Amino acid sequence: MALLALGRDPWSLLGLFLSQLFLPPTAGASGQEPLPRITYRAGEGRRALSLFHQKGLQDFDTLLLSGDGGTLYVGAREAILALDIQNPGMPKLKSMIPWPASDRKKSECAFKKKSNETQCFNFIRVLVSLNATHLYTCGTFAFSPACTFIELQDSYLLPISEDKVVEGKGQSPFDPAHKHTAVLADGMLYSGTMNNFLGSEPILIRTLGPQPVLKTDNFLRWLQPDASFVAAIPSTHFVYFFFEETASEFEFFEKLHTSRVARVCKNDVGGDKLLQKKWTTFLKAQLLCSQPGQLPFNVIRHAVLLPAAASAEPRVYAAFSSQWQIGGTRSSAVCAFSLKDIKRVFEGKYKELNKETSRWTTYGVPEISPRPGSCSVGPSSDKALTFMKDHFLMDEQVVGTPLLVKSGVEYTRLAVETAQGVDGQSHLVLYLGTGE
Ligand SMILES: *[C@@H]1O[C@H](CO)[C@@H](O)[C@H](O)[C@H]1NC(C)=O
Ligand SMILES: *[C@@H]1O[C@H](CO)[C@@H](O)[C@H](O)[C@H]1NC(C)=O
Repeated sequence: MALLALGRDPWSLLGLFLSQLFLPPTAGASGQEPLPRITYRAGEGRRALSLFHQKGLQDFDTLLLSGDGGTLYVGAREAILALDIQNPGMPKLKSMIPWPASDRKKSECAFKKKSNETQCFNFIRVLVSLNATHLYTCGTFAFSPACTFIELQDSYLLPISEDKVVEGKGQSPFDPAHKHTAVLADGMLYSGTMNNFLGSEPILIRTLGPQPVLKTDNFLRWLQPDASFVAAIPSTHFVYFFFEETASEFEFFEKLHTSRVARVCKNDVGGDKLLQKKWTTFLKAQLLCSQPGQLPFNVIRHAVLLPAAASAEPRVYAAFSSQWQIGGTRSSAVCAFSLKDIKRVFEGKYKELNKETSRWTTYGVPEISPRPGSCSVGPSSDKALTFMKDHFLMDEQVVGTPLLVKSGVEYTRLAVETAQGVDGQSHLVLYLGTGE
């Protein structure tokens, strides 16, 4: 690399270079690293709820809190549990139902060279509350995703009958190691994950409920083959997806990760002749979380919405790490993005790929009304759909403010709320989870 020849620390040069490339915000976090008010290690006794064990069960990966907060539903490896968490201490097991992958699927999985010790099981990945009487769940089902309804009786789980299990491709990943996200909005499940055995074909799909099943178009490359989903957030008209993928719009780097927000309209019904059974409103934009003059935190790990309050507009809070390890240590940042900024970027210019030069250029705003990709009711014209096929990447970035930057730690999950202090002021409280 030519930069090295200059004899300066390659990281600082790359940092400068990238900071120009990414146009970071001018307001950054201060030099001092924040200290958490409270830290809990896994299994620590001071927590209101102590560690739950159950012999023979592992991989408690998927959690769902009941509407009244008294029951925690847990998707584990080959089982779903309902835990009573109304009282402090160890959660009490209310009920547990097995949901193993079938023997046939397990042997097919092992035959395809996947491990019968670690991979060829049903890892629960989706667990959502459908209505007052039913949950909906999906699992990897030994590399053959499957879904089913679970009936509830006073928040006790009724056994799953085998004839109610349906294919779950696009809703659960095949591989338990692959990322995924799913959210239920207006009775429809919006999910983002890998759609094939090899894990090379990402998909955003809408299933369940009365509206047509819609997917991303794989051929049009709306998503890079390594797209990795971390969150989905519904709003009134849209569902936003948060993910990470290799950037194709920066030509300088072999494999530059970038974080994205994508959106689709809830009232999308797909195209008629063009984009049949596909999204006609899919758009994505770059999410940027960085400090001036530093390498960006380019790998999104999780995102949550803090809805509008009396004094504040709705914001998305997201935890990021970096693809680069600086000084041999990982670091994390939390950035806030206003929903207004996200909307503004989606209403701006697009990027367009010149197929001859393979370069992305800026494309203005189309003279098509209603604007393609907006949630206008009624069928879209062929002209609008043709436009949407190739204009799915927005030109501008959504720039977030780093609220905190911390080295030596990788935040993988977050939750946000506001709390009133004794001074009567409203404070933002971040809960940050790591692998430990
Ligand atoms: C996995 O397969 C091997 C070889 O067929 C077998 O010996 C072993 O018992 C299997 N393990 C499990 C957990 O089924
Ligand atoms: C909940 O959804 C299930 C599955 O679609 C359905 O069978 C059931 O009737 C619904 N229950 C209510 C109370 O709407």
